[in-house]
Amino acid sequence: MFNISNRRYTGSKLKLSEWIIELIKENCVGNTFFEIFAGTSVVSSKIAPFMDTVILNDTLEANEVIYNAFYNNTEYNSEKLNDIRDYFNSHIELSDSGFFSENYGDKYFSLTDCRKIEFIRNYISENEKILNKKEYSILLTSLIYSMDRCANTVGHFDAYRKIDNIPNKFLFDLIQPFEFPNTDFKIFREDANLLAEKINADIVYIDPPYNSRQYCQFYHIYETIVRWDNPQLFGTALKPQGRHLSEYCKSKAPLFFADLIEKLNCNYIAVSYNNTYQSKSGSSRNKITLEQIEDILSKRGEVLTFSKAHQFFNAGKTDFSDHKEFLFIVKVNNK
Ligand SMILES: C[S@@+](CC[C@H](N)C(=O)[O-])C[C@H]1O[C@@H](n2cnc3c(N)ncnc32)[C@H](O)[C@@H]1O
Repeated sequence: MFNISNRRYTGSKLKLSEWIIELIKENCVGNTFFEIFAGTSVVSSKIAPFMDTVILNDTLEANEVIYNAFYNNTEYNSEKLNDIRDYFNSHIELSDSGFFSENYGDKYFSLTDCRKIEFIRNYISENEKILNKKEYSILLTSLIYSMDRCANTVGHFDAYRKIDNIPNKFLFDLIQPFEFPNTDFKIFREDANLLAEKINADIVYIDPPYNSRQYCQFYHIYETIVRWDNPQLFGTALKPQGRHLSEYCKSKAPLFFADLIEKLNCNYIAVSYNNTYQSKSGSSRNKITLEQIEDILSKRGEVLTFSKAHQFFNAGKTDFSDHKEFLFIVKVNNK
């Protein structure tokens, strides 16, 4: 069974999560944690046992489904889901060719794998009436995690590998939802700057995109799997028009960051950052500089700065001898 971190996601803080959580526990007090750019939500998943309330937000539709699958506290019938998994793996039929296999067959997945994915996605839609929201989310999330295992990519859908004879590797498995009996979860899919003023939390954790790579375009296939809407596709990478383009990936990012920080209703702000802003590759160069972050954060209170050497994702054009991950913590001056 898949757990929350069995997924490739650019910028995931999985490897840094223990370091981040220890610093938050040492320097912040409170029991409501708000992860406003949650991505994989790995940081929330690890801090949840220490919190009464965890609030998750991200603009991607697939991420919202994934949070509902893993965290939503409603009951679900695991026997029913196991039967469906067994049905998929023993009786799987190949779909008649549809949008998904016609466009992505022998590109992002083998043609056979595309037709299996399409069969399962159609089955989930056709059986929505016998599934509650949690079960529906678990099946869709399980499909996404199973797809990640066999995608013909380096981990995102900006491009597929140009190879002949992509192997048939798709196997459907279920995710293992969390059980946090003492934690309440609230799930949102809103623009961070709009949501910020509606939420009160003790601690807000912030990890926005810092460069021009749009997450909705990196993970467009999962957005399509969730929407199942046959979008018009463009270019060799077969991407739809950006569906949730982020201002944080554009040149005005510092203004949006300043606006967000000003609006937050909280006692502590924790911000992740790394020093790719010096990168030679335009797409990985940060839109917000270290100095801008420090300046903006200092308007809300004293800024504590922590750093750690860390080798993060880069596509090869960047030569660093000084990879650094930062965590800024602000104790907000609410007077
Ligand atoms: C760097 S990733 C977060 C990674 C996360 N810390 C993790 O460990 O997986 C940034 C996330 O912000 C989301 N995002 C981008 N712009 C946003 C916005 N304006 N409001 C809310 N979420 C946004 C993206 O979809 C992406 O998942």
